[in-house]
Amino acid sequence: MTEQMNIQWYPGHMTKTRRQIEADLKLVDAVCELLDARIPRASRNPDIAAICGAKPRLVLLNRMDMADPELTRRWRRHFEAQGLAAAATDCKSRRGIAAFQPAVQQLLSERLRRYREKGQTGRALRVMVVGIPNVGKSTFINQVSGRKGAKAENRPGVTRGKQWVSVDRALLLLDTPGILWPKFEDPRAGELLAFTGAVKDDILDAEGLACRLAELLWRRYPGSLRDRYGLDCPPDAAGWTLLEAVGARRGFRVSGGEIDLERAARALLEEYRSGRLGRFTLETPEENGP
Ligand code: G4P
Repeated sequence: MTEQMNIQWYPGHMTKTRRQIEADLKLVDAVCELLDARIPRASRNPDIAAICGAKPRLVLLNRMDMADPELTRRWRRHFEAQGLAAAATDCKSRRGIAAFQPAVQQLLSERLRRYREKGQTGRALRVMVVGIPNVGKSTFINQVSGRKGAKAENRPGVTRGKQWVSVDRALLLLDTPGILWPKFEDPRAGELLAFTGAVKDDILDAEGLACRLAELLWRRYPGSLRDRYGLDCPPDAAGWTLLEAVGARRGFRVSGGEIDLERAARALLEEYRSGRLGRFTLETPEENGP
């Protein structure tokens, strides 16, 4: 788990970050908002619309390789229906990366037309990438620009000279991603962020967390748990029953012979987070309001 995942957000941090992003917004033509395709609502900053104001926005559902493809399509349509541009990427395999620049040009087509009319054809479009810690901002910037290795300064509120990463002559990315806080004030979102590992593990109760994840997956993707762990439980089985069954199938026992629930919980969470359990999206556009 990387350090930036565990940023502790305090009101002072948020205010400073917000000001920094608002200042940077003056330098760019558009904002690219990275979300985690597995939890597009929970990984979204609650104040993003207010922070970005009228700046054109492109929503990118990143980690599409780990998300349910059908739900990624539905989420894209959901954001498009709100008047935003939307696309999906997998920064590991580079899927969707080549479509990014055309999507930006499409989003800013009106502006490009004005540039052409004024003869300013050499003018590059400027885009800022924003998102919560660990959503893939640096990897995305590196993939789009072909930049290798260098990780942009990635702590909230750290000021330094602005640098631009050139994608080509027509597109520049701000090399400092805007790091935003997630929607953790909503307990449901907090839980989804904990499932994916976006919030710190050791402050949480792994068994309780794994129970709730098991229930959610059993309800939505029973086939995957059946295939991986050979579970044969009723459709409405409680989380503890499912976790016990996982431990039993894996032979995780403590010395007295009882099932080692802690070990089963860690295994389930780890296998979910690594993607070995399957491709799951844990929230749909329709539930829990907008
Ligand atoms: P950040 O700047 O937003 O904080 O995120 P960063 O780019 O550091 O990415 C965080 C982790 O997410 C990295 O893994 C990165 O490889 C991974 N990642 C980014 N995009 C994708 C994606 O589309 N799919 C998948 N599966 N993973 C993605 P890491 O564990 O920190 O490093 P490593 O595994 O790459 O060595």
